[in-house]
Amino acid sequence: MKAVDKLIQRQKLTKEEFIEILKQQDDPDIRELLKEEAIRLRKHYYGTKVFTRGLIEFTNHCKNDCYYCGIRRSNKNAKRFRLSQEDILACCENGYELGFRTFVLQGGEDVWYTDAKLVEIIRRIKTLYPECAVTLSVGEKSYESYKAYKEAGADRYLLRHETADEQHYEVLHPAEMSLANRKQCLYDLKKLGYQVGAGFMVGSPGQSVETLAEDLLFLQELQPQMVGIGPFIPHHDTCFAEKSAGSVGETLFLLSVIRILLPTVLLPATTALGTMDPQGREKGLLAGANVVMPNLSPLKTRKQYDLYDNKICTGDESAQCKNCLAQRMESVGYHVVVDRGDSLNK
Ligand code: 5AD
Ligand code: FES
Repeated sequence: MKAVDKLIQRQKLTKEEFIEILKQQDDPDIRELLKEEAIRLRKHYYGTKVFTRGLIEFTNHCKNDCYYCGIRRSNKNAKRFRLSQEDILACCENGYELGFRTFVLQGGEDVWYTDAKLVEIIRRIKTLYPECAVTLSVGEKSYESYKAYKEAGADRYLLRHETADEQHYEVLHPAEMSLANRKQCLYDLKKLGYQVGAGFMVGSPGQSVETLAEDLLFLQELQPQMVGIGPFIPHHDTCFAEKSAGSVGETLFLLSVIRILLPTVLLPATTALGTMDPQGREKGLLAGANVVMPNLSPLKTRKQYDLYDNKICTGDESAQCKNCLAQRMESVGYHVVVDRGDSLNK
């Protein structure tokens, strides 16, 4: 049987079969077939609902030095900031009024935020907004740290694996980081009962159909509740300043493949996709995505959370951003809902 048909019939695929599918992405019939199936599944499980997550970028200090990332520790030009606990709670208050029922606390790996500090922030948010979900996105931590955050009330955790191919991982990261540890973190998070999000950039330097096939194999094995993918976009102050950006078309193709691979997955149309194409997020929805993550961060620090060049929405009030996205979703027949937007397979 052809790999595409196996994917659609929900059979387990091998690396070679994923490669076969990835090599067919320029075939308009295959693209259309996968897109239609992705939309069918998305509508079957989620109708025309779009879940929102309020993104709070609370620190751009980071101890890591990932080659692609604008806030890597060796970027001396990055203007660093940390939000106080009060700032973070103000973002939540604003977000709650705007209808957000999930808050995503995202930051670099910043040791200033000790476990005790994070636990207190999580507790305070969960006490003030018990019906809201708290998602963390603060990188690689120990099992004990993840456990402490979970006990404090955290519900979900985003940790993109970035690439599931060992050699490619080394192209993107310095030697002190490892794919093995990254994967271990994801398994730890799953074991602790988090709804877990993995993911990767599309078109990162060194990526190939073989490394992408590894990514899909890994997703098939991990069965994450969420998957974040967006095009790689070069940042002028990184090692990859001169590299070309990932393609919107390939990202859309992969969104459809991932929707079919993991039919109930929570799949965002990312800001990076919106940065590469003014209609990128709308197109993302039409390829199978069902989540958007507008920014709730205070205006004064938004530009400083500078992972890649030309990031959109850094000059807009949260309310503006939310309304703009809601309108964009309506324009393609989808509807933003006030809901935690939990995974169907918790
Ligand atoms: N282009 C696109 N995405 C990036 N990320 C980091 N740097 C870039 C970049 N230059 C993504 C990584 C990370 C997430 C928070 O942002 O995949 O996990
Ligand atoms: Fe932020 Fe449109 S989504 S301004």
